[in-house]
Amino acid sequence: MHKISKIAVLTSGGDAPGMNPCIRAVVRTALYNGLEVVGVRQGYKGLIENDMYDMNKRSVSNILNLGGTILKTARCLPFKEDEGMATAYKHLKERGIDALVVIGGDGTFTGALRFSKKYPDIAVMGVPGTIDNDLCGSTYTLGFDTATNTVIEAIDKIRDTADAHDRLFFIEVMGRDSGAIALRAGISCGAEAILLPEKQTAIEDLIKNLKEGHMNKKSSSIVIVAEGDKNGGVYDVAKAVQKEVNNYDIKVTILGHLQRGGSPSSFDRILGSRLGFAAVNALIAGETQKMVGLQANHILLTSLEDALNNHEFKLEADLLQMVDILSI
Ligand code: F6P
Repeated sequence: MHKISKIAVLTSGGDAPGMNPCIRAVVRTALYNGLEVVGVRQGYKGLIENDMYDMNKRSVSNILNLGGTILKTARCLPFKEDEGMATAYKHLKERGIDALVVIGGDGTFTGALRFSKKYPDIAVMGVPGTIDNDLCGSTYTLGFDTATNTVIEAIDKIRDTADAHDRLFFIEVMGRDSGAIALRAGISCGAEAILLPEKQTAIEDLIKNLKEGHMNKKSSSIVIVAEGDKNGGVYDVAKAVQKEVNNYDIKVTILGHLQRGGSPSSFDRILGSRLGFAAVNALIAGETQKMVGLQANHILLTSLEDALNNHEFKLEADLLQMVDILSI
């Protein structure tokens, strides 16, 4: 087993609330165990540009409550190329770094896995940090809970005005190819319909459902459209419905990047702390090419390959089933 002495930590891809509590846990767990810690700015870009700094206990003071990431993040195309990876490796070796904690989503893990296969002498541990909740091996990813709560707060407000005007709102939420935020927010806000990438909804069925709601004296209706839904986007869906439903005044809202910001929820602070702590302990135990994740309230390891196998990822069947039943 190869013993580590110096860990680098980075956040990459879309930021997610909970990344800061996780960075804090990584730094302090590493220091507690006598390891040195280096913070990498802007994810893989910082590895390539050699933009790193030594971290100490105080580098992570008072950050538990902060959204975003103190290390900053980026989506880095050059790291996909052999040349970018070689430069990153050179910089890590020059600094004596022998282990890397990467906090991010599927793009981050894809890069980490390729890098680790090319340069296995640097141990790599992934932490699932994405609001999309789309990785296998962790029931929840960092930021998903906070983002869903942010969406719920916004939709509750939209419901007030929708109800006051008897309007029909189409609300687009984030998630890339995942409907996880849409589904949970939709159930939590009593959305009349939720359009998800994982489950095709025919526009005719949606129209029928909305007409029935109107006949059943619903004063307002909310349709949540996950950004990855396959009906052509929130504006196209609203236009198609507008043609057939004339007794509702229709509005469209795209919640956008506000979903990514904000102070992490209690859940994400605890999850970030647990995952950061576990990531360092796993590296000390000699693990590599793995992801730490939450399964049945235990922190377990999954290979990065399996974590990325997200076509196996399924939304909860009971939640999907209750969408139409609970919002009649
Ligand atoms: O992966 C997180 C996420 O917020 C997705 O939900 C969304 O599709 C994407 O990132 C947006 O990326 P960007 O901030 O680069 O536009």
